[in-house]
Amino acid sequence: MTLIDGKKLAQDIKAEIRAEVDQILASGGRAPHLAAVLVGDDPASQVYVRNKVKSCHEVGFLSTLIQRPADIAQAELEGIVAGLNQNPEVDGFIVQLPLPQHLNEEAITLAIDPRKDVDGFHPVNFGRMAQGLPCYLPATPFGIMEMLKRYNIPTAGKEVVVVGRSSIVGTPMSILLSRKAQPGDATVTICHSRTQDLAAHTRRADILVAAIGRADFIKGDMVKPGAVVIDVGMNRVEDPRAKNGYRLTGDVDFASVAPLASYITPVPGGVGQMTVVSLLLNTLKAGKQEVYG
Ligand code: GUN
Repeated sequence: MTLIDGKKLAQDIKAEIRAEVDQILASGGRAPHLAAVLVGDDPASQVYVRNKVKSCHEVGFLSTLIQRPADIAQAELEGIVAGLNQNPEVDGFIVQLPLPQHLNEEAITLAIDPRKDVDGFHPVNFGRMAQGLPCYLPATPFGIMEMLKRYNIPTAGKEVVVVGRSSIVGTPMSILLSRKAQPGDATVTICHSRTQDLAAHTRRADILVAAIGRADFIKGDMVKPGAVVIDVGMNRVEDPRAKNGYRLTGDVDFASVAPLASYITPVPGGVGQMTVVSLLLNTLKAGKQEVYG
């Protein structure tokens, strides 16, 4: 069994991005600039956004954090988005989700210029992804594709089973792995809460992607010996022995699955490490105007 080291991959990719930024600066250009909009005081969102801003600094990007109180009006938030769309100094930006209840997330996502949508959440980017056109990929699927690529894990002709059909992980993952590309060219099954006999499907998988959102859901008896197991889960479970009273665990029961797998991503230290790096890669593409010209 090989443990896929997300932390090491993330460090390697950050070093590559840093080197590109140095080149851009050396040739008289400006560093890529990411802006992040954070509304309200959700503690998890604050941690995520702080992490994104910190990662920008690590690779030499410019970053701007725009913080607004939870009671901001829809029109004011749309005004901020419009300003960022028009600001030539900002290459890409994100609006951290979830937004407070009274705000319309869909309208905000649609208001973002697809050219600056480095989260890859706008339907224009999703549609371009589905058609194999240049686009910004959503961070988690992008990170998983990089992992498969960098570990030289073959996907062509393989049976892939994706468990979970969210529009930011399961569904894009199924599209990317079935596309005519490398990684890609796989035969993909997508399973979800209404799937009958889930284990019969997962046991067929050469590559199993677990994006369910339930702690330790995939057990050893659901996995084919030799399978590649990608764990997208990020679940908080209570643990009185842990410093802050909880620990993070994936959707895969590591203890029973790891001995069977050929490759497996740990939680933490696996897929999660790749998501911020994917955002940086998209921001670099935005700075270089690589996607839309
Ligand atoms: N909330 C959870 N994940 C994400 C993400 O990737 N981007 C944004 N904007 N919000 C999130």
